[in-house]
Amino acid sequence: MLTLGIETSCDETAVAVVEGVSPTLPIKVLSSVVASSEEMHVRTGGIVPEVAAREQLRSIIPVIQEALVKAQKQARDMEAIAVTVGPGLIGSLLVGVETAKILAYVWGKSIIPVNHLIAHLYANWLGQEVPEFPAVGLVVSGGHTDLVLMEGHPSTSSGQAVIKLLGRTRDDAAGECFDKGARLLGLPYPGGPAVAKMATKFQETNHKIQTKLPRPMINDDNYDFSFSGLKTALRSVRQAQDKLAQDKTAELAYELQEAIAEVLVAKVVKAVEEFKPKSVLLGGGVAANSRLRQLLELKMKNEKCKVYIPEPKLCTDNAASIAAVAYYNCSPIPWQSIKVDPSLEIV
Ligand code: KG4
Ligand code: ZN
Repeated sequence: MLTLGIETSCDETAVAVVEGVSPTLPIKVLSSVVASSEEMHVRTGGIVPEVAAREQLRSIIPVIQEALVKAQKQARDMEAIAVTVGPGLIGSLLVGVETAKILAYVWGKSIIPVNHLIAHLYANWLGQEVPEFPAVGLVVSGGHTDLVLMEGHPSTSSGQAVIKLLGRTRDDAAGECFDKGARLLGLPYPGGPAVAKMATKFQETNHKIQTKLPRPMINDDNYDFSFSGLKTALRSVRQAQDKLAQDKTAELAYELQEAIAEVLVAKVVKAVEEFKPKSVLLGGGVAANSRLRQLLELKMKNEKCKVYIPEPKLCTDNAASIAAVAYYNCSPIPWQSIKVDPSLEIV
């Protein structure tokens, strides 16, 4: 099945063509184009929704054309159009959904609504091997931190809930903590990659950590997270440090990354011990973080399940993951009934 994926939930305009041949084989990415208005948001220190949507409106058609050309396919070759319906920024989501509706009507294709958060986990079906169920999945993005247990593909459940929420953040998401932490440290947007870069610098100095940050809820007997206290702790350390006039940016970036990674991995390990899954799936922009990837692999070394982490460019927002969900959960709906849902949750 050849599927055209469209993703416009945040500031990216992403279109991909993927091919699924068998449920037991990974999905092939024939093309995956991502246009971002990130440069504009660097200037404002974050995303301005209207600016993002306006840019997406400008780039959606050229990006669709580029994705088809790169895949060496034509519109008539597509069997379905998969589009993100939520969660995300309403103006941005509308650009993708309205475009998908028009294409479905004009090209005469079926349209499949996709939950962006579930798509982050399905990036793991684009790798070398197909994950097995049950799976523990952790979605770590800019606005969400959700830990789930997946018993199967949602469409095979015959109405049963196959994705169960184990826990989520009670306040800020992990990506948000990276972004807000970066801002406190005077680092550019997006915060995650900037913090990671500074953390590496600190590591290269071989200096010892002098300032510890908390690991919120790490030992709590539940699967929830909380990152806003970490940001507050960082702010007070930063204020005290300003008085000392001593540059601790790199050390604090390192410690922030360690704290986030340790808490996330601890909860995954706890879920693995309780539910004994066959697979662990990581997904979302924060999954691109090298330290998180390394720590998860390390802590799971002695567990029986297999760990899946998408390649970094499939962790951050892309349309190949959207189209991957559609292959396994192929439930088309009439284009007239498709609607955006900015506050959609993972389950
Ligand atoms: O999934 P995503 O691309 O967009 C949303 O759905 O939100 O995630 C964006 C988040 C941002 O908070 C960004 O700072 C973070 O992912 N991120 C990273 C890295 N790359 C992106 N966080 C830590 N390390 C990275 N290398
Ligand atoms: Zn995302």
